[in-house]
Amino acid sequence: MPQLPIILSVVGARPNFMKVAPLHRIFTAPEYSSLLSHRIVHTGQHYDAAMSDAFFRDLEMPEPAYFLGVGSGSHAEQTAKVMVEFEKVCMDAKPALVLVVGDVNSTIAATLTATKLGIPVAHVEAGLRSGDRTMPEELNRIATDALSDYAFVTEQSGIDNLLRENFRRDRVHLVGNTMIDSVHFALPKARQSRILQELGVKLQEYALVTLHRPSNVDDETQLRFLVEMLMDTASACAVVFPVHPRTRKNLERFGLLSRIESHSRFILTEPQGYVHFLAMMMNARFVLTDSGGVQEETTALGVPCITLRTTTERPITCDVGTNVLVPPTPENIRLALSDALSGKMTKQAHVPPLWDGKAAERIAAIVVRDCFGM
Ligand code: UD1
Ligand code: UDP
Repeated sequence: MPQLPIILSVVGARPNFMKVAPLHRIFTAPEYSSLLSHRIVHTGQHYDAAMSDAFFRDLEMPEPAYFLGVGSGSHAEQTAKVMVEFEKVCMDAKPALVLVVGDVNSTIAATLTATKLGIPVAHVEAGLRSGDRTMPEELNRIATDALSDYAFVTEQSGIDNLLRENFRRDRVHLVGNTMIDSVHFALPKARQSRILQELGVKLQEYALVTLHRPSNVDDETQLRFLVEMLMDTASACAVVFPVHPRTRKNLERFGLLSRIESHSRFILTEPQGYVHFLAMMMNARFVLTDSGGVQEETTALGVPCITLRTTTERPITCDVGTNVLVPPTPENIRLALSDALSGKMTKQAHVPPLWDGKAAERIAAIVVRDCFGM
């Protein structure tokens, strides 16, 4: 019997898992599993149990078919290591298509490797642009899209950006958001979560914080100032802060950890698993973040979100969703926090078009039709 065409989907860092899980589910459903073989490749960019394993469990993904174990390093080291290891996987598996998601180093590394071997690449979450080339992710987004053969897009701005950059019109598809497919999948479990009780916080009575962008957490002055802002917030309402490993390292390095830990209403935790984190988002009074994905999830959940950045590559979350972009200076943040705490931040928000939990279904149908001609 001839071998089925193989799709390799590449994951590496935390925000990749929730984007690929729905694709794996649909491609391994009876409708598609007789037509193709879908396999997950984990680069190992993120490797702590709380940054990786937890997501396989919560999103009910199987062990990856390939684990590259690249770990941390400088941008060049990490990108190069993924390329070297992923090339071996491609030579072995001979995939008909490589599917990459998002904008992390693993995304561009896998794209470069596959395209140089003549393997078509589909980019899920293509076309997003912040316009800020000091962000490593922006460089990854631009380079990945420049090389990709198929673009699956979450919002209209992505289509506009790709067409401006001369991406082939017939290969750009507005499909919705696979990250939101995962929200739909995990919501019933999140409703059962006991994480609020475990942390000792009440519905709508806490602010949820995530910070990990180098521009916010690698610079001592900026991180010190953000911590002071959060300490002020904790005087008005409990603050729950699951700390990303990059941020924890810097809080320790700058001597800020003990200061936070001394405040009784400032609750620091390890990075949370997906289901607990979803429960924490949906029940928060508001969310303060610099994450890409959290901007989208809060919009899907209808939870007010303050994004501590000067730009966003996800403008729809501000245009129609609950997100407010707040360049992280003292004056801006004070104003935004005061509005959020007094309840003045309520926006007339909507869920963006096609963020309905069915993006992976749309992608699968297009892949089979356009990439494999079935
Ligand atoms: C990466 C992505 C970023 C994404 C973020 C999601 C790039 C360039 N950056 O940033 O776009 O928003 O993931 O969380 O790809 N570390 C651990 N344990 C881990 C992983 C990392 O301790 O499991 C520590 C290491 O000290 C490492 C540092 O965190 O050096 C940064 O990790 P890295 O993957 O390079 O970048 P992130 O900041 O996580
Ligand atoms: N997330 C999580 N636990 C946490 C923090 C975030 O499960 O403690 C999830 C969040 O719900 C979203 C994803 O991680 O699905 C976002 O990843 P991250 O913020 O690390 O990366 P970004 O989206 O900024 O690239």
